[in-house]
Amino acid sequence: MLNFEFQCPTKVIFGKDTIKELSRLIPENAKVLMTYGGGSIKKNGVYDQVKNALKNHTVIEFSGIEPNPKFETCMKAVEIAKNENIDFILAVGGGSVLDGSKFISAAIKYNGDAWDILTKSTPVVPPFENPMIKDAISLGAVITLPATGSEMNAGAVISKIEGDEKLAFGSNKVYPCFSIIDPETTYSLPVRQTINGIIDTFVHVMEQYATIDVNTPMQDYWQLGIIKTLIEEAPKVLANPNDYDARANIFWCATCGLNYWATLGTVGDWATHMIGHEITAFYGLDHAQTLAIIMPRVLEYQKETKATKLSKMAYEVFGYKGEEKDAADFAIKETEKFFNSIGQKTKLIDYGVDKKEAAAKVSERFKERGVILGENQKLTPEAVYEILNRC
Ligand code: NZQ
Ligand code: ZN
Repeated sequence: MLNFEFQCPTKVIFGKDTIKELSRLIPENAKVLMTYGGGSIKKNGVYDQVKNALKNHTVIEFSGIEPNPKFETCMKAVEIAKNENIDFILAVGGGSVLDGSKFISAAIKYNGDAWDILTKSTPVVPPFENPMIKDAISLGAVITLPATGSEMNAGAVISKIEGDEKLAFGSNKVYPCFSIIDPETTYSLPVRQTINGIIDTFVHVMEQYATIDVNTPMQDYWQLGIIKTLIEEAPKVLANPNDYDARANIFWCATCGLNYWATLGTVGDWATHMIGHEITAFYGLDHAQTLAIIMPRVLEYQKETKATKLSKMAYEVFGYKGEEKDAADFAIKETEKFFNSIGQKTKLIDYGVDKKEAAAKVSERFKERGVILGENQKLTPEAVYEILNRC
């Protein structure tokens, strides 16, 4: 097991009818900036619950944080927050609203060009030490989409319209001080977003599980437990979107899939995410769509390094009974089969993207930036070209 350092300060309030707890979680005298997205919270009743809970607080609203939150949009909120002397940000919505709000909370306190936070930042892993971010405005969340784990981590991903950029940053200053997770808020999710959330969670776990084996059996079983739960609960929630227990189980999988508890001391890969972010930046695909396309090919390409973990997954998750030498291939095939079974397509062409063009664009960008990926830093831009050319 590798050494690790970890501290997560986020208080989690989980369950039915918990949004009303906001009134006690946010200091009474705080001037609150309530951030949200394109209006889903107005249709599903979350907006009314929040406003009701905060009827004795001073609240200023900022709406319109879009999926794959844009730097340009967030900077408008920074200006409002500075003018209004905001001292608390409440993010209400999916991972994009929360990520955008994390960025806003850091950018308000940042002296200089705030885009530096994305371009000059440190890796997005615990303990999220980031000397660039010395301070940030306090932040809380009502999270309405199980996917990113942003509700209990200190990372965020921000896009820039100018230049088709999508970059991540991390800082322990932007951990939400609390996150309210009410699974009932997810009944209104479009099927596409429900599927996206399941895939994103699955891939978060795999990027941390299916890597080099450093003898971490407890973490392995925990991670495989998340994957097994997703496979069992996904058909239930797709058949009955109002199945509370399935919604609750999937949400807690998503939170634990990227709050790092299950993976401390293990080796991360993250190549799928890094390549996927570029595909979203260039072509606008949903985050999870990119992951479903890329991960099976990344697993195949790095099969030798990942063989021990993939074999364990074949036996423990997929009930494999065959020979050890074919177990890793079996796990990769079953993973892709699961993605397809819940309705996620796994080829670039399914989304109208030409694989050769995508391979050339992404590998060229990584070459310019000197990016090398993978758990043992073997995925050169040439390897990324090869992977995308198989997508
Ligand atoms: O904007 P509104 O109207 O709220 O609608 C949203 C949006 O259109 C809608 N939605 C959210 N909750 C809903 C709902 N609709 C009905 N009922 C609800 N309860 O869903 C759409 C997608 O929302 P979004 O927030 O974009 O999705 P998600 O949570 O998947 O977030 C994706 C973003 O997170 C980043 C991704 O790159 C992407 O930018 N990630 C963040 C990570 C992190 N902070 O740790 C890690 C991830 O790997 C990921 O990269
Ligand atoms: Zn993700």
